[in-house]
Amino acid sequence: MKKLTIGAIRKRKTGAPLVMITAYDALFARLFNETADILLVGDSLNMSFGGNPDTLSATMDQMIYHTNAVCKGAPETFVITDMPFGTYTDEASALANAIRVYRETPSDAVKIEGGADKAHLVKHLVDNGLAVCGHIGLLPQAFRAEGGYKVKGKSEAEALSLIADALAIEEAGAFILVIEGVKADVATRVAQSVSIPVIGIGAGNGVDGQVLVFSDMLGLYEPFVPKFVKQYLNGAKAVKEAVNGYKTEVQNRTFPDENYIY
Ligand code: KIV
Repeated sequence: MKKLTIGAIRKRKTGAPLVMITAYDALFARLFNETADILLVGDSLNMSFGGNPDTLSATMDQMIYHTNAVCKGAPETFVITDMPFGTYTDEASALANAIRVYRETPSDAVKIEGGADKAHLVKHLVDNGLAVCGHIGLLPQAFRAEGGYKVKGKSEAEALSLIADALAIEEAGAFILVIEGVKADVATRVAQSVSIPVIGIGAGNGVDGQVLVFSDMLGLYEPFVPKFVKQYLNGAKAVKEAVNGYKTEVQNRTFPDENYIY
């Protein structure tokens, strides 16, 4: 499959919904390379791979390391790299850190969390030659400040604020927008308000594509399964069964048998 261009991604505003999955390493990225339209090197890796309770301690160095691995595994897939918490507090730091992504990896775009309040940062990156993905609604990087993960769009005022956020991010030059943890009817209104593709996660089916954290959708992450996650595989069970099978055969000396020796 040929890598999508930004123009082709924009055109998917109408047409088949975009398929986005997170990826953190070359091993899984290679498996997703033929299927996903876009791979997101999300700072969620800080939780599932890093074992941390939230995304907030992810660093630029980690994102660069994981982005390089993903790009090697999936050279034909469009890759977006998350900018971690604290790396885009002002225009200068946002640009310096986003430029690191382009200089030190083959990533195609960066993603920053925030609505109208972050539009000036999106514009600054776009004006300086970066492709930017927005992220509005439930913002995982606001986990500590908001005291948990809060679903958005529960009132008309919140709905209007989300639409204003989306319009500001589009106006700033983002080519795509992730909307997370938003009431489905409100996410649909947001998607209908802008001309860039809106990719939902926990935001219903009225948007222009979906993204899921791969370790969630493959049932590999056991500590917490959000309501919106459909598990397409019971990965944790499959892995545990396989490792137990190995353990049994090592202990009863049936592995390695004659098929697995020199
Ligand atoms: O970090 C991440 O995986 C994300 C998705 C939840 C969209 O930002």
